[in-house]
Amino acid sequence: MKNIVILISGRGSNMEAIVRAGLPARVAAVISNRADAEGLKFAAQSGLPVEVVDEREFSSRGAFDAALEAAIERHSPDLVALAGFMRILGGDFVRHYSGRVVNIHPSLLPAFPGLHTHRRALQEGVKLHGCTVHFVTPQVDHGPIIAQAAISVRAVDTEATLAARVLQQEHRVYPLAIRWFVEGRLAVENGIVRVDAPGARQALLVEE
Ligand code: GAR
Repeated sequence: MKNIVILISGRGSNMEAIVRAGLPARVAAVISNRADAEGLKFAAQSGLPVEVVDEREFSSRGAFDAALEAAIERHSPDLVALAGFMRILGGDFVRHYSGRVVNIHPSLLPAFPGLHTHRRALQEGVKLHGCTVHFVTPQVDHGPIIAQAAISVRAVDTEATLAARVLQQEHRVYPLAIRWFVEGRLAVENGIVRVDAPGARQALLVEE
């Protein structure tokens, strides 16, 4: 069985969705860069190994990345899943885990990388919004796209309602994308991900 190490910084609802999905894989550890990350409670209550690599204890990004990598390696990861991990990882770290580290981002990338994605989507008046699961590259919120889910933006949507509706889709597509990874259904050719799974396309479309 493949080992997944999940990295979080806060609430951890995507981590919870991955754990609850009953994937054919072992969640080997949940690691946070913040001791007060709310999601650590659920992880500990679920009997998962939990570790904190407190970013405040390191003076440089390199030192933090090295400590994080050491913590991850203790759990023999096949896949590292960033789940609301709000810290930019250095190029060496990302290259070390190339093809084995995925992220979820609350927008239809390449639109709206970075923060405040829902606010920016409303400001731009986009009609479709959503989330993206992608392989991580040294460029932030960028990399071969594995899965996306789109929702229509309603006239009554606020930043909060949009965030909640997108989060619902995140909880659906992130476990699905990770399932595809652990089942060996993903191939990357020239930066394009091919998914070999029944119903893969339909699973990503949301009509609203
Ligand atoms: C999620 O919406 C995730 O997509 C986003 O942070 C939130 C974490 O929520 N990630 C990013 O913005 C990464 N660029 P969670 O802790 O409840 O999973």
